[in-house]
Amino acid sequence: MRKRRFLRFTKTGVVLTLCAALLLSGCAGKPVAEEKKSVRIGVSLYRGDDTFINNIRGELEERAKAYEQKSGIKVMLDIQDAKGSQNTQNNQVERFISLGCDVLCINPVDRMDASVMIDRAMTAGVPVVFFNRQPVEEDMNRWDQLYYVGVDAKESAVLQGNIVVSQYREDPASIDFNGDGKVSYVLLEGESSHQDSLIRTEWSIQTLKDGGVPIEKITGGIANWERSQASALMEQWLETYPGEIEPVVSNNDDMALGAIDALERAGGQRINLIGIDATTPGQEAVQAGKMLGTVSSDKGRYAQAILDLSAAKALNQPIQTDIPLENGKYYWSAQEIVKKVKQ
Ligand code: GAL
Repeated sequence: MRKRRFLRFTKTGVVLTLCAALLLSGCAGKPVAEEKKSVRIGVSLYRGDDTFINNIRGELEERAKAYEQKSGIKVMLDIQDAKGSQNTQNNQVERFISLGCDVLCINPVDRMDASVMIDRAMTAGVPVVFFNRQPVEEDMNRWDQLYYVGVDAKESAVLQGNIVVSQYREDPASIDFNGDGKVSYVLLEGESSHQDSLIRTEWSIQTLKDGGVPIEKITGGIANWERSQASALMEQWLETYPGEIEPVVSNNDDMALGAIDALERAGGQRINLIGIDATTPGQEAVQAGKMLGTVSSDKGRYAQAILDLSAAKALNQPIQTDIPLENGKYYWSAQEIVKKVKQ
């Protein structure tokens, strides 16, 4: 009797020990989740030939290398160019998911049409960090694993406007060339569907007004962020309004550079140009005195935020506290004015 009880007791002990071992090893025979040694990030760019986006891409690649060295975790960045096609981008998202990407970084082609990509990501349980082209709020609110990294468009515009305001206050004649008491400007605008174009246009002009610059609009046009389109527009305007254009207010640097191309073709007339982005060629133009100024969105921090958010999501770690997120999902990169460094 005692022997049987002893046997029963030992059997129970063995079963309990086995259960405990199973529990410790992650239950039901599953091994404990090993620490990840690598993360796979699928990145889709709306257009790989966009200068600003290219600058961000370069920063992202550098930051990924630095992260690898610091953490010992391999970062596999699969960067694809959607070449302006939402359909191509949807297919890229599909492929990233089938390749087992841990997280997606998407610069949407059509920011109003992010729902298909969100659907796919949600079904597969893959978090998404959108950047630069902000999906509509309704889409962003569909899942708590959607993030956005970008710059505040109003802030960019106010900084841009202030470049002209301070120059005008310092030396009105350097802006109002013909001294007629009016600052006659032309406006180069980005894509009409882009959140940055409308807000930048509104607030850069409002800032000029608020700053007491007596502005008068000659004309404006949409050049879709592109240097060549802006160059063609500026060429027409120089012919139609000879000697009248004072500042050129541009929604980004590339279009300002296009206007400079047209000015150079027309004989190198001196005009004040103001951009936004502080791209590499934009900064060079400012330092060469070809542009009055531009606005820099700290591209290093911008790319770092994309990377840190992605790595945290891929590794299932909490998001670092030095990435402040508005409403738990929006990261706004800091900006500052860039002017020619006085020698
Ligand atoms: C803007 C930027 C433009 C262009 C655009 C693309 O924020 O200023 O130069 O890159 O994004 O979405």
